[in-house]
Amino acid sequence: MTSSGKQITDCGTDQRPIDLSGELAKYRDDFPILSRTVSSGEPLIFLDNAASTQRPRVVIDAISQCYEEYYANVHRGIHTLSEESTQRYERARKTVADFLHADSPKEIIFCAGTTAAINTVARSWGDANIGAGDTILVTIAEHHANIVPWHQLAERTGCKVEFIPLGEDYTIADEQVAEALERWQPKLFSFVATSNVLGTEFPVSRWVSLAHQHNATVLVDAAQAAPHEEVDVRAWNADFVVFSGHKICGPGGIGVLYGKEHLLEAMPPFLGGGAMIHRVTTSGFEPAGLPEKFEAGTPPIADAIGLEAAISYVSEIGLERIAAHERALCHVADRGLREIDGVRVIGPGPEKKGGIVSFVIDRVHSHDVAQQLDTTGIAVRAGHHCTMPLHKALGLSSTTRASFYLYNTIDEVHRLIDAVRELQVKFAPSGRRRRRR
Ligand SMILES: Cc1ncc(COP(=O)(O)O)c(C=O)c1O
Repeated sequence: MTSSGKQITDCGTDQRPIDLSGELAKYRDDFPILSRTVSSGEPLIFLDNAASTQRPRVVIDAISQCYEEYYANVHRGIHTLSEESTQRYERARKTVADFLHADSPKEIIFCAGTTAAINTVARSWGDANIGAGDTILVTIAEHHANIVPWHQLAERTGCKVEFIPLGEDYTIADEQVAEALERWQPKLFSFVATSNVLGTEFPVSRWVSLAHQHNATVLVDAAQAAPHEEVDVRAWNADFVVFSGHKICGPGGIGVLYGKEHLLEAMPPFLGGGAMIHRVTTSGFEPAGLPEKFEAGTPPIADAIGLEAAISYVSEIGLERIAAHERALCHVADRGLREIDGVRVIGPGPEKKGGIVSFVIDRVHSHDVAQQLDTTGIAVRAGHHCTMPLHKALGLSSTTRASFYLYNTIDEVHRLIDAVRELQVKFAPSGRRRRRR
């Protein structure tokens, strides 16, 4: 502790001490759910943020306020509530556009989440632009959401899906990407900005630039990036960028497809129905312009408004501060877990990753690890995390994943490390047990 009462640790990535007293801990009180207990009365330690984060009161209030005060269907009604709802829904779109540094709100399509956004690109852009003999290039680190839609596209068109393998230290070198682009000449390179298992942060701008040199269109899965770092679609220069609201303190059921306007303009609508048309006759239809063309049916109005509140909330705190806080927690977790005999961290060192630490304990199934941790109040995720090809490439069937967000504390990280150490001692075969530190 310092004279000011701040807790200091020596685990900074640049080896200088980092203040972990929880500059951000004051925000914990904003999240009602964090004060509950689980199991037999243990305080909740929520380390499952890569799956879904929790929501602050301002987001819950924004959604409630929408339903209590002005909800009506958007765009169609000539009455006060519909006009208010429409105005708030479109304001949310503008907030997302500003958040991503997009050129225009027309480039922002609201959809159900990252999965829905990628499927929209596969069905719309894919069906219109991909044919037999074409290649879609992805990395082995992709979430199933960025694999299965391309397999489905391959079934429809006869195209191929090729994977860039993992390189050294759970990363992929630019040279590997360049080689794969040269070899496969893909029509599309679709890759994850931050792996939801390894935590590895890939160099998005460099890869986009390499892909464009090979005339590939680029989709970036920013599901694990947008909640934690500034996403500037103009600086990235990616053609499509997708993320989910529920991983950035927003509601479930809403996500964002960003696409460059000229690409979206040229793409046919994917879902057909109300709201996405300009005119319908008995013989056909004329689609609406952007962004309505891709938003068939009644959109997730309150969810978009909740997402706007979430984006304002994290932006006010500052994504750089959030990222620095998570990195500090990740550094301590990564180092602490690596020191435990029989525990293997699956991912690069903390200097190359965001706030995600996946690990395995020798001879203990990840489901047992998660279940045991739950008895101490710690919520982590266990399994393949929707990355079966990655796990297969790593020779693993599952991992346990701890993932951090702005409201986690250094104390929680130490509790995790202690609980894993105890678990390893309890479950490890006696010959391999080590003295408890
Ligand atoms: C990297 C990545 N991509 C895609 C997804 C799918 O997101 P959603 O389930 O919100 O569609 C996830 C969810 O965990 C993810 O981590």
